[in-house]
Amino acid sequence: MKRILSRRQLQYTVGGLADHIRADYAGKRPVLIGILKGSFIFLADLARELNMPLEIDFVTVSSYGQGQVSKGEVTLIQDVTADIRDRHVLLVEDIVDSGLTLAWLRRHILGRSPASLAVCALLARESIVTARPDVVDYLGRAIPDGFVVGYGIDYGEDYRYLPDIWVLEEE
Ligand code: IMP
Ligand code: MG
Repeated sequence: MKRILSRRQLQYTVGGLADHIRADYAGKRPVLIGILKGSFIFLADLARELNMPLEIDFVTVSSYGQGQVSKGEVTLIQDVTADIRDRHVLLVEDIVDSGLTLAWLRRHILGRSPASLAVCALLARESIVTARPDVVDYLGRAIPDGFVVGYGIDYGEDYRYLPDIWVLEEE
């Protein structure tokens, strides 16, 4: 495994995202919806860096199962519990690969008539950022291909506990 983002770089990245979001949502009390499970550490750090009035909720989806390749379908495992009608919703995602999960969740959330919907992702593939720059409103870092783990992100439910982000060596 090779480390690609240290905990210090992560802290700096999350701090920068929080500065932008805090400015944009001043006076608005947004609902942050973490996409589980991968976003749990990122969301915890982001909320503390934001240090502003907000609410937290979660949605659990599955798109990868145990492997490294997307199954191409999104399964809703646990829905949002907050009433998000007329609320300012910020979806919080760990990593955007194909963008399929986000596209599905966007439709799902918009069906509940929020006042606004934006997406914050810690990481996204350079390829999707180039092809569809509008897929993420607040992006931490664009990264090249290569399966990453750590800081909440797993491979087969392992490695979520790692404080830094690593890329698995190709097999
Ligand atoms: P997408 O639907 O292809 O954009 O995939 C997004 C989801 O797949 C994310 O929520 C992640 O949980 C997972 N994922 C994508 N790339 C990686 C990776 O490199 N490591 C671990 N999980 C990933
Ligand atoms: Mg995820």
